[in-house]
Parts: sequence; C-alpha cells; structure tokens
Amino acid sequence: MKKDFLSIADLSKDEIFELLALTDSLKAATTKPLSGKTVALIFQKPSLRTRVSFEVGVVQLGGHAVFLTDEGVGLGVRESASDVAHVLSRFNNGIVARVFDHQLLLDLAKHATVPVINALSDLSHPCQILADIYTIQQHKKLRDYVKIAYVGDGNNIVNSWLELSSIIPLHLTLAIPHGYEPDKAIYEKAQNARVSKIEIIRDPKNAVNKADVVYTDTWTSMGQEQERTKRIYDFWEYQVNTPLIRHAKEDVLVMHCLPAHRGEEITNEALDGRQSVVNDQAENRLHVQKAIMAKLIGKI
Ligand code: CP
Ligand code: NVA
Repeated sequence: MKKDFLSIADLSKDEIFELLALTDSLKAATTKPLSGKTVALIFQKPSLRTRVSFEVGVVQLGGHAVFLTDEGVGLGVRESASDVAHVLSRFNNGIVARVFDHQLLLDLAKHATVPVINALSDLSHPCQILADIYTIQQHKKLRDYVKIAYVGDGNNIVNSWLELSSIIPLHLTLAIPHGYEPDKAIYEKAQNARVSKIEIIRDPKNAVNKADVVYTDTWTSMGQEQERTKRIYDFWEYQVNTPLIRHAKEDVLVMHCLPAHRGEEITNEALDGRQSVVNDQAENRLHVQKAIMAKLIGKI
C-alpha cells in the first residue's frame, strides 16, 4: 500500500529515526532508487528551498521532476483535487504539493494511487521540521528534552514542532502573543500525548532562558500578506536579537526555516551570527527529503 507524508503524525518514532539514519547514508551514496521514475511537484505558493531541494533531490536519486505552477494546473479550481490526483498518478510515481488549504493535500492523498508529500500547507510543514531535527542532531544537541524555544507566530512551523513533540521527547517553550496560538487540536493532542514538556510562555526572555535552540519564523506567512502591518505591531516584542539570545545557553543554535524578514522577526546580527545554523537547515532539506522520497517512492 502507498504511504503518504502529509504531517509528522504520519510517522512513528522508529520511522523518524530510520529516516534520519537513511538521510545520513544517502548523503554520500550514489544509489538511484528513483531511476526511471518521475515526481510531479505542484506549488500554489512561492518557494526557493523546497522547490530546489525537491528537484535536485529527485535528480540525485536518478529520477525526473515535473514542476507545475498552480497557474498552469488550477488545483481545486480548474480541476478538482481528485481529478488532478487520478491523472498525475497515471503519469508519475509520486506527488509533492505546496498548498494554501491543507484539505487539498488530504484530497490529493485520498485519490492518488502514488505517495503524496506535503511541501507546506497553511497547517504544517513536516519536511522542514524533519530537516530541523536532523540539523539539531548534526550539531550534537539532540537528546531527550532538548530545550527548543520558539519565538513568534503559532503557525504551520509550530504545528509541525508540536506534532513532533507528540512522538519524541522535547522541552518546547513557545513564546507566542495572545491570539496567535498554534492549531488548538494539534496543541491539545501534543499535550495529551504526554511525551514532551510543552509550555506557552508570553515573555520571550523566559521562554529562551537556558534554551538549546532558539527558533523563529516570519510573522506574516504566505497568504497573510494583507495582515502584515497589524502583525508587525502585534509581534514587535517577539524579535530574536542578540540581547534575547543572551538568555539562552552560550552554545545555543539559532534556527529559522527561511525566508527571513530581516529586521522583523530576526535581526541581521542574529541570523548571520556564529550561533546561526540556518544554512545547515536549508541544506538539510535536500538530504532529508531524499530519504523521504527514497523510502516512499523508491521503496528502499
Ligand atoms: N523553508 C522553506 O520552505 O522555504 P521556501 O518557502 O523557500 O521553500
Ligand atoms: N510560516 C511560513 C513558512 C515558510 C517556509 C509560511 O507559511 O509562509
């Protein structure tokens, strides 16, 4: 049976660690598990890292990527998600989709006969968070209850962190202003799982105190551009900058999924500083997604 990757919750703890190990082994390997295979990439939103890392990853695994813009496809408008899924499944061995509405991904996955991979939705960004946990491991910081302080908007990135915290033990402190909390169902599920210590703390300094990782993301996600002015006002005290980072551990990892809005959620000094690992995170998108595709599409 085909397996999709729509959220971190689709994986067990063993599968997560298997994927991290496969990521390591594929980095240096020249095996071509996607030889003779094609993967369709449908993007409803802009992308640098996700698009390039998936396209390059498919090529490195011996396959061919077919990039489709939403203007061309009209997912859910020109054609229903079910028709798109049926047709793409006849031509391709896998579908990677970045969508506004997470429901479209669920519909694609329901009707596709090939694996569907979430390349970001309004609800979650699981490939990013797998690359992030791989980055934390690469920097030798991954241990039970590693303290990850997230400062900013309770968006798709936070939802995926919460889903991960339902599976592996983390100490997740979320510095998020009132009204911008993460998805309620995902938050409650993570708390009820009792795997991790999860707190929403309004004061960023308290959240970041002695943290191993300080993570932030844009205050204005794709699709929220009309709210930008209000968001800059509401989030102003939630900037990741040098004085804030001083509250964390000396060897803290400063993380951001990018793209960054320099001078808003993070300063140049923090993003470009010695503790920043943002470019490792970006590179690791390639390695981790190769492991995901090798497993789901290449069936290795
Ligand atoms: N982090 C990330 O997904 O970047 P892109 O939006 O550029 O793909
Ligand atoms: N929260 C951001 C992540 C970008 C990779 C967005 O959805 O725009």
